[in-house]
Amino acid sequence: MYRMRRLRRTEGIRDLVRENRLSVKELVYPLFVAAGVNLKIRVPSMPGVFQYSLDRLPELLDQLLKAGVNAVLVFGVPLRKDEAGSEAYNRDGIAQRAVRKIRAYAPEMVIISDVCLCEYTSHGHCGLIRGGEILNDESLPLLARASVTLAEAGADMIAPSCMMDGDVESIRRDLDEAGYVNTAIMAYSAKMASGYYSPFRDAAHSAPSFGDRRSYQMDYANGREAVRESLIALDEGADIVMVKPALAYLDIVRETRNALRAPLATYNVSGEYSMVKAAAQAGWIDEKRIVMENLTAMKRAGADIIITYHAIDAAEWIREQG
Ligand code: PBG
Ligand code: ZN
Repeated sequence: MYRMRRLRRTEGIRDLVRENRLSVKELVYPLFVAAGVNLKIRVPSMPGVFQYSLDRLPELLDQLLKAGVNAVLVFGVPLRKDEAGSEAYNRDGIAQRAVRKIRAYAPEMVIISDVCLCEYTSHGHCGLIRGGEILNDESLPLLARASVTLAEAGADMIAPSCMMDGDVESIRRDLDEAGYVNTAIMAYSAKMASGYYSPFRDAAHSAPSFGDRRSYQMDYANGREAVRESLIALDEGADIVMVKPALAYLDIVRETRNALRAPLATYNVSGEYSMVKAAAQAGWIDEKRIVMENLTAMKRAGADIIITYHAIDAAEWIREQG
């Protein structure tokens, strides 16, 4: 008889044969910086997540540093929105100021700046609009401009999440021309049009005012196309590629891992987070067990980097687990 149970007998033996272990060092925490002063605003659809104003940001940074989480993904929540999303590429915009603040307060922090227009446009779409259509090529210079202002503020990496074709190429070119040849690009290369982003759109005030994002984000039914998107992003100069969301897309994480040789990130998005929090608050599941199981599954599927709102809690649980 095959006695597979022999190696499951004690904690010590199980530890010895465990194939995948999480590390705090591969976690990235997404944070929302709001314009204004003395703000720490609860995001109702994401228990435990807050928007911070610049002056209150140190509270969060202290928590992250204490937990050993040394990488953040920065989102700005501006006061002013317009048709062209101009606050996205204002050198003194909220995201740019947040990067400067984080760089000054926590110099070792890896700062990844999300680049998109949806938080900054009055219509909430990720690109410019004409006659109800989301314009691809016309949006590229604006995304590249935003990227340069964020690199100038001190971002280590630029993460375009807009799903415009040619975004990585255009951003890489402008970064290089401005002298930011060492600013990396983490492309949201395979980003699905997903129902799992709704809590984020509450947090970032970025829900589209009409229509949806299916003309630019990917059809979630398509696995081959997702791999192709990441290959194209690499070809355009991306340093890191991404699959987003994570949990329902671990097959794509695995396929992407096997298809290419660049670092691969996966984004454990807001809806995935909020479902776990809600069920845990109702007493239906054990939050710690579920979070560790989910994050370990992402790692097992082949993710090198995990972007997650659970990062601070998970850091403690990873330490406990040893
Ligand atoms: C903006 C952006 C979104 C997310 C990251 N960047 C939302 C969207 O595309 O609507 C989703 C993050 C999350 O749900 O946690 N383009
Ligand atoms: Zn967007």
